[in-house]
Amino acid sequence: MSEAQSSVAPPRALVTGSTGFIGSHLLRHLHEAGWEVHVVMRPNAEAAAQPSYVAGVHPYTGATSQIIEAVERSKPDTVFHLASLFLAAHTPGQILPLVEANVLLGTQLLEAMMLSGTKMLVNTGTSWQYFHGEQYRPVNLYAATKQAFDDILAYYADTTGMRAITLALFDSYGPGDPRKKLLRLLLDSLRTGETLLMSGGEQQLDLVHVDDICSAFLRAATLLKNPELPSPLTYAVSGGERMSLQDVVKVLERAAGKSLGVKWGARPYRQREVMDLWKGPAMPGWKPQTTLAQGFRALVEQE
Ligand SMILES: NC(=O)c1ccc[n+]([C@@H]2O[C@H](COP(=O)([O-])OP(=O)(O)OC[C@H]3O[C@@H](n4cnc5c(N)ncnc54)[C@H](OP(=O)(O)O)[C@@H]3O)[C@@H](O)[C@H]2O)c1
Repeated sequence: MSEAQSSVAPPRALVTGSTGFIGSHLLRHLHEAGWEVHVVMRPNAEAAAQPSYVAGVHPYTGATSQIIEAVERSKPDTVFHLASLFLAAHTPGQILPLVEANVLLGTQLLEAMMLSGTKMLVNTGTSWQYFHGEQYRPVNLYAATKQAFDDILAYYADTTGMRAITLALFDSYGPGDPRKKLLRLLLDSLRTGETLLMSGGEQQLDLVHVDDICSAFLRAATLLKNPELPSPLTYAVSGGERMSLQDVVKVLERAAGKSLGVKWGARPYRQREVMDLWKGPAMPGWKPQTTLAQGFRALVEQE
């Protein structure tokens, strides 16, 4: 590294949701791209296990003052907001944690950014904000709370000159995914040979490799450096290979070189199953690099 390069301070990131699947990968991507990384997190086991390159761990137990302090101390150039509670369906008892995670925390963050003059935010939305079409129509209460935060963000962007990009994600996959979701079930069934009882399998999926999702976050951060950027903006982070669940299973079978025992139609579709996905605007200068076939082959090899 030349002297001139070494004297330039690295850009600083403050990340929420860093203990999650995507957030944990994003930390590594930011670090490898030369960012100084700070995180806001609830004190728990994962907090102790944050990678050593994390420059600051800022605890959060619900108080606005903690977020204000986290932003004041970390002085981020860009905030990456990923923390969220995902619930496919909710119960009355889950309304409070859902609103706390998806609306309150983000609003506290925006207030803290306003107070400190922090100007750039990459936020995380979901394609589920757009059930059956291009207009806002939430699939579930989780998606509605994501939209509620987007609306609050529009207020802060309008009144403070903050620049924000919301990346609306579809589905994700990749190494180290702790979620007991579809791909885990399929990989387990490959190993055990157990027959899986599935719905009709005609619903569309858009699976994006977690490394591609992370590169989208970095690209958004670059775009935000343009002071002329209209704000807030929303981009769809599509893997570019939309296909039915039945076809996803075929790609996995080819990657593994063996067949899965799947009984299609053995279960009903979910209530408000998303059969056809939102298209959404693509982010300029970003394209996924990992095909589903490549990503699945790597997953199968790691099993
Ligand atoms: N994964 C996908 O395929 C997908 C699809 C669409 C949208 N998204 C969005 O992408 C983002 C990341 O998703 P993910 O799958 O990586 O999430 P995840 O694995 O479920 O992780 C959620 C993260 O949010 C934190 N969090 C939850 N509630 C919180 C609260 N009240 N206060 C502080 N932190 C809280 C969790 O921290 P703790 O360790 O403290 O629980 C964890 O770090 C989310 O905004 C999600 O809505 C993801």
